[in-house]
Amino acid sequence: MEGLDEMMYGLIEERRAAGTPEGGAKDLLDMLLAARDEETGEGMDDRELRDEIVTTFAAGHETTAVTLSWAFYLLSQHREVLRRAQEEVDRELGDRMPTVEDLRRMPYLLQIFEEALRLYPSAPIVPRLTLRDTVLGGHHVPKGSRVLVNLFNIHRHPRHWADPERFEPDHFAAAERKGRHRFAHMPFGAGPHLCIGKHFALMEAHLLLATLIRRYDFRHVPSHRVVNHATITLRPKYGMVMTLHERRHAVPGTGAPAAAGAPAD
Ligand code: HEM
Repeated sequence: MEGLDEMMYGLIEERRAAGTPEGGAKDLLDMLLAARDEETGEGMDDRELRDEIVTTFAAGHETTAVTLSWAFYLLSQHREVLRRAQEEVDRELGDRMPTVEDLRRMPYLLQIFEEALRLYPSAPIVPRLTLRDTVLGGHHVPKGSRVLVNLFNIHRHPRHWADPERFEPDHFAAAERKGRHRFAHMPFGAGPHLCIGKHFALMEAHLLLATLIRRYDFRHVPSHRVVNHATITLRPKYGMVMTLHERRHAVPGTGAPAAAGAPAD
């Protein structure tokens, strides 16, 4: 906590000293610094700011990162899916880096991320507190109970998914989505506490998949054991050991073509 506080309070101090950037807030911290209570007109104190940025940092960092690890692992195991993703990226981007405008022309990449979130939801359990007595699945649940909603199991429930254990990004093709229960896939939760970073995370992951798939082929090191491990997030217990192999495209900024299949650093 000391290390984290030092970093967060350091950021706040730095920004306060720099003042509001010309042309208005540039990022979330600027916005939080500029925010004023509608009734009192007061801004947040350092403790309130620190709490806001720690929450955003903690909730927003590992969730997306760990899902990308699972996505690259799944791609390494399903070469036909990887090939289709490479075709989409090559067709839309060629030799350039992706921008947000490119994303809607690369729907298959997003389907890959959504399917990775189905099989390995990075927040596998969502807690709730019952506000009144209720009945769940035939069980009486008294008011004030802590209930854990198991997203991992819902995402693999045979009532909602054909062949639920299989990695199949076409589960998220437009036609397949129709008629599916709206809570059969809820990696970002549901209701008033729905993840505030959902759209940011999807955009970030989509851009990262496009950037990395364009440049590298991902191969899992076969001797490395992959075991999922549910803590607060769903992590690969022993990490994810993979090798990256440059694809044929030019390395951005150098103009030099990269040799196909050569291992990268
Ligand atoms: C793949 C990435 C992510 C996943 C799977 C994920 C998942 C979730 C889930 C399951 C919840 C709980 C929802 C509920 O209780 O119903 C949640 C809440 C939250 N998430 Fe995310 N999240 C992701 C990325 C992010 C990012 C990028 C940010 C911020 C930049 C973020 C910020 C938050 C915050 C602040 C909450 C609490 C919302 C509230 O209680 O009102 N998350 N997220």
